[in-house]
Amino acid sequence: MKNLANNKLSKFGQLLNLISWLLGGSILLVILLVGYFTGIFNRTNAIPITVTTENKPYKPEKTVWKLISMDAVVHEPDPELVKYGRELIANTAYYLGPKGKVAQQTNGMNCQNCHLDAGSRVWGNNYGAVASTYPKFRERSGTKESIVKRVNDCMERSLNGRGLDSTSREMRAIVSYIKFIGQCVPKDTIPNGTGIWKLKFMNRAADPTKGQVAYEQKCVSCHGKNGEGLKSPDGIVYTYPPLWGQHSYNIGAGLFRLSRLAGYIKTNMPFGATYEKPQLSDEEAWDIAAYVNSRPRPTKDLSKDWPKISGKPIDHPFGPYSDNFSEEQHKFGPFKPIDEFKKAEKKKQEALKNKTQQIKS
Ligand code: HEC
Ligand code: HEC
Repeated sequence: MKNLANNKLSKFGQLLNLISWLLGGSILLVILLVGYFTGIFNRTNAIPITVTTENKPYKPEKTVWKLISMDAVVHEPDPELVKYGRELIANTAYYLGPKGKVAQQTNGMNCQNCHLDAGSRVWGNNYGAVASTYPKFRERSGTKESIVKRVNDCMERSLNGRGLDSTSREMRAIVSYIKFIGQCVPKDTIPNGTGIWKLKFMNRAADPTKGQVAYEQKCVSCHGKNGEGLKSPDGIVYTYPPLWGQHSYNIGAGLFRLSRLAGYIKTNMPFGATYEKPQLSDEEAWDIAAYVNSRPRPTKDLSKDWPKISGKPIDHPFGPYSDNFSEEQHKFGPFKPIDEFKKAEKKKQEALKNKTQQIKS
């Protein structure tokens, strides 16, 4: 009897136990569901992601330049010429490098190493605004330059070689390709996203020592400890192009100006970075650029450049200048004071011009 009663009691106890487990379980389930749908447990997602301007150079309020598709080439009078132009820009070394099959007159780099996706990538130093703005006056030569002249500038400086004859099939091909990809851009306009990203000035000078540390973390794996790059197994083209040394761009090249190099690497390097997903802070980009451009590279006679010295850009690293800032400051910054001085000078000049015009009339 006793046993039976005990048994019944324990069965009752088990039942109670079960009910309380079920009750507790469902309450817990309700809490979890409510929590899930209100996002209480999702705290990290609930906090808005803050993107600093430091790491996000893209201005979403402006639309960026969209390139014309290569498919449209069939509508060109000479599609093969345009395609050859693209090919020359993408694989320059193969045709014109030290072992080039057409001629041997460049340093082994490709135009595309600096003008990404054959000069068609947004903020990848693309050619979007070339057809719309050339021929144009350039202070560096003090003349009105054609596309041919501008292309040969890069051949002589960035590719540290010799220019092409304007009548050669190669030059005609390059020019027709550049005109092809810029054909939708209205005359005299420079769409957002063309050329090189303009990096904000820092308040301090760029620091090559800091740059070296960052270079060794973020660039050395491809471009090498001595900036020598890496040749492909065939020895004709580079898998990773050189950043300094005798096979790199010379001191007359656009990238030898700190703002050009820093802007280029900010939105494009390490390879895979984009303007929407940059991998370097602005400071890193400036400092790494300072390191790269303080390494040795080929020289060039620049005595004919910048015939009007006040026309020199603020980051041209060689004097004489029309201001009293040192060569060192023109090379590494801080650039803000030079920029402000230049702008003030320009204003003064314009005011003077207006005054003399008023006197005349
Ligand atoms: C080492 C890097 C490098 C290489 C290689 C290079 N360029 Fe350039 N190129 C530049 C830079 C930097 C600029 C100036 C961009 C600026 O100031 O916004 C430039 C400017 C130009 C421009 C004028 C762009 C404009 O909007 O005004 C043309 C055209 C051009 N390059 C064509 C070529 C061609 C064609 C080749 C190959 C034969 C070539 N470049 C190779 C770096 C390079
Ligand atoms: C994953 C490999 C890789 C890494 C890492 C990398 N690069 Fe590059 N870099 C490339 C390639 C590839 C090109 C040429 C792109 C092309 O031809 O399409 C290039 C081109 C360049 C160029 C223009 C061409 C030249 O040789 O002057 C510069 C400047 C440059 N890189 C700088 C840097 C800097 C600075 C870093 C570090 C912040 C960096 N790269 C990290 C692969 C890399």
